[in-house]
Amino acid sequence: MKICVLPGDGIGPEVTEEAVKILAALGDFTFVYGDIGYDAYQQIGSSLPDETLQKIADADATLFGAVTTPPNIPNYESPILKLRQHFDLYVNLRPCKTLPIEISHEGIDMDIVRENTEGLYSRRERVEDNGDTAITERVITRKGSERIIRYAFELAKNNGRKTVTIVHKANVLRATCGLFREVALEVANDYPNIEMNEQIVDACAMQLIKNPGQFEVIVTTNLFGDILSDAASMLVGGLGVAYSGNIGEHAAVFEPVHGSAPKYVGTHNANPLATILAARLMLEHIGMDAEAKQLQTAIEQVLQDGNVTPDLGGSCTTQQVTEHILEALQ
Ligand code: NAD
Ligand code: IPM
Ligand code: MN
Repeated sequence: MKICVLPGDGIGPEVTEEAVKILAALGDFTFVYGDIGYDAYQQIGSSLPDETLQKIADADATLFGAVTTPPNIPNYESPILKLRQHFDLYVNLRPCKTLPIEISHEGIDMDIVRENTEGLYSRRERVEDNGDTAITERVITRKGSERIIRYAFELAKNNGRKTVTIVHKANVLRATCGLFREVALEVANDYPNIEMNEQIVDACAMQLIKNPGQFEVIVTTNLFGDILSDAASMLVGGLGVAYSGNIGEHAAVFEPVHGSAPKYVGTHNANPLATILAARLMLEHIGMDAEAKQLQTAIEQVLQDGNVTPDLGGSCTTQQVTEHILEALQ
């Protein structure tokens, strides 16, 4: 198996290095490294060079760390957005499950399925009126809605789930969320054994905190999914354990939900588990289910033993967490 590794900026290289050590212990992988992010932009003039795109295309799957996107550089765009659109990685799957640590709530087992190519991330922005009016277009298509909603229902079906919750704001965003909702009602007809619930996004944010155990699969548009998944991560341990898969028909990129956390660079406090859990999801995706299960068991062991970084209440360094996982794997 060939894995493309994109460490990126900030703590990206620190956490991907740990995940690579673990993958190397689990299988016979070839790792091909690629440049991405703001450091690459400064060094070689591109945040997402063509060679990197080729490496992703040639790999069985890609593991991505994180990138820094300074808000004040004109015309600089986050390469992860370009990458999601370039490979049409229309699914952003963000599982959120109870972990065996004290700060994690009990009884949580949900998959947040975030549309990953359109909505407010359609990259259609402009400034008018001599800079006094700024416009971002929110593009929702029938095709884009249908494929993500169908993915969510298939995921529910394959995992024996009883419900799918569609999250929108169709009461206000009548055109865009209205279309998303209309398509959801149609797709739901093809799954008579799965109940479709709907929630308006603000109420869903409240319900996530009030009664998170009610959710099995949530499917929503791009920005709502971005925000709800960061919030949901806090139910089970926070961004240090939140992971994701960007999945398309021809490529897949696995990454932690967190960013480059500049404050943590060099402190050895960055939690590598989000990236290691992303690697576990990647193993499942490439058909290495036995290794994925083995890794999950090892991670749970390490969590139970309290061998974790300070964000989870432990005193391990980034590297020590990996050492404990490698030990548990043996
Ligand atoms: P962030 O996710 O980098 O960090 C927010 C906070 O979460 C940190 O201060 C820290 O307290 C915690 N955290 C994050 N990762 C952690 C880890 N591995 N272990 C322990 N704690 C962790 O978000 P931010 O500070 O808003 O953004 C920093 C930079 O990252 C920005 O330039 C932003 O654009 C970028 N970003 C990139 C991605 C990505 O690459 N996919 C995602 C989000 C943000
Ligand atoms: C995420 C991140 C990205 C997003 C940013 C860095 C472009 O927050 O992966 O959740 O908004 O999708
Ligand atoms: Mn985000």
